[in-house]
Amino acid sequence: MFMLVAVGSWGLRKGSEGEHSRDLNRSCRASPACLPSKIMKRQNPPERPTPLSRRDFLRGGALVSLGAAAAPAVARELEAEGQAPGSPDGKRQRGRHKIQLRINGTEREVQVEPRTSLLEALRTHLSPPMTGTKLVCDGGNCGACTVLLDGEPAASCMVLAVDAADHQVRTIEGEGDPTDMSPMQSAFCEHDGMMCGFCTSGFIMSLTAAVEANPKANEQELREACAGNLCRCGTYPQVFESALAAVRGNR
Ligand code: FES
Ligand code: FES
Repeated sequence: MFMLVAVGSWGLRKGSEGEHSRDLNRSCRASPACLPSKIMKRQNPPERPTPLSRRDFLRGGALVSLGAAAAPAVARELEAEGQAPGSPDGKRQRGRHKIQLRINGTEREVQVEPRTSLLEALRTHLSPPMTGTKLVCDGGNCGACTVLLDGEPAASCMVLAVDAADHQVRTIEGEGDPTDMSPMQSAFCEHDGMMCGFCTSGFIMSLTAAVEANPKANEQELREACAGNLCRCGTYPQVFESALAAVRGNR
């Protein structure tokens, strides 16, 4: 019985294979998807447009199409290739250039390269430097470097310093100092809204912008306001408790 089933099944397979061409140089009439057809396609692949190289892409105006978020990374690529952004003749613009930044209501002169991020300008090029804004990921992922640009939270590691020149920049230093803290800063101190503190200035800036836009923000709105801020210490409960306390202080 077993022999009969096995022989029958072999016969069926043999019969269906027999309808296909076994000659690789002839196309198969039974199915276009059979092996010879596939091999022929691989031997004569259809012509495809030449893909844009990374270099061409960068030169082709990536700064415009990617937007400000990716600008510093693209600028670094251009710098590595010997071509600074904004150089119309394609020649490298060497050295630093003086720009004016309006930081916490004060005009500050700073010398930066075209590729310098606002975060780098604040932390390492200003004299004296402003280190309250923290550098953590340097890639727009953690929110530790959040500042306010014209009142809106922005990751300063993803903004070119030269692009910030026409905007009002607010940093944690402008919110207050230990003797005269802002309501949000006071709430963070009273409710233990920090552990290592690396994320704290970014949270305070994002939450400050949210509360200024809506002084009666609820917890859900406050959580959404700092959706781009990460705390590796896991201090979220105290952060939101602090923010809610700051909102209650507005009532
Ligand atoms: S350091 Fe800018 S987003 Fe992380
Ligand atoms: S308090 Fe340490 S990362 Fe937030």
